[in-house]
Amino acid sequence: MAVKIVPSILSADQSDLGAVVRRLLTAGLDTIHLDVMDGNFVPPITFGAKLLADLKSAVGGVYDAHLMVARPGEQLELFAEAGADWITVHQEAAPHVHRLLDRIKTLGKKAGVSINPGTPVVQLETLFDVADLFLIMTVNPGWGGQGMIESCLDKVRWLKERVDTPVMVDGGVNEGTMARVAASGADLAVVGSALFQGDLGAILARLQEEAQTS
Ligand code: DX5
Ligand code: ZN
Repeated sequence: MAVKIVPSILSADQSDLGAVVRRLLTAGLDTIHLDVMDGNFVPPITFGAKLLADLKSAVGGVYDAHLMVARPGEQLELFAEAGADWITVHQEAAPHVHRLLDRIKTLGKKAGVSINPGTPVVQLETLFDVADLFLIMTVNPGWGGQGMIESCLDKVRWLKERVDTPVMVDGGVNEGTMARVAASGADLAVVGSALFQGDLGAILARLQEEAQTS
């Protein structure tokens, strides 16, 4: 087994994202992590639903929309109609998070919930019956290229002891940390900036080596 690598295009050259995604899919990756930021839940502003729709129709791929937005309930239909396959909301931005996850599933999409480094993992316990994915932030959201907060990997272990639901790690995953991500039991790992620092094939080969679990 190995941790599945899910590329984030946040740190890519945004002047030609179609070419970036085509390159990622050609390299054998199949799911694209789209970091949606509204300048409110986090300071930067990044992508909207139309980008996802245009990428999907032009290049294909499976899309995992990570909504770092203050009012995620207002985005669900937009991203579902745009063709998102996974929609992940932040527990910190959703007082009615259980209902939001239900709504995502009603829209026919996989429902993910994410928690920031400062949020206790026990808060996810009430969502075991409704979430299709747990997204554990190992950086404070908003930027790529940050160092991993490795204590957050304990949250992955806590979840894997209790549920079979896939757990994804997001932030600071690179050749130096991937082995510890794999050891935590994570099923998937978002990799952003580390993919855009040289030859993609060679970087992926090294990451996949580190991503091997027992
Ligand atoms: C941060 C985003 C992450 C980020 C990961 O708010 O949610 O997905 O793009 O980027 P790296 O791998 O560079 O930490
Ligand atoms: Zn993300």
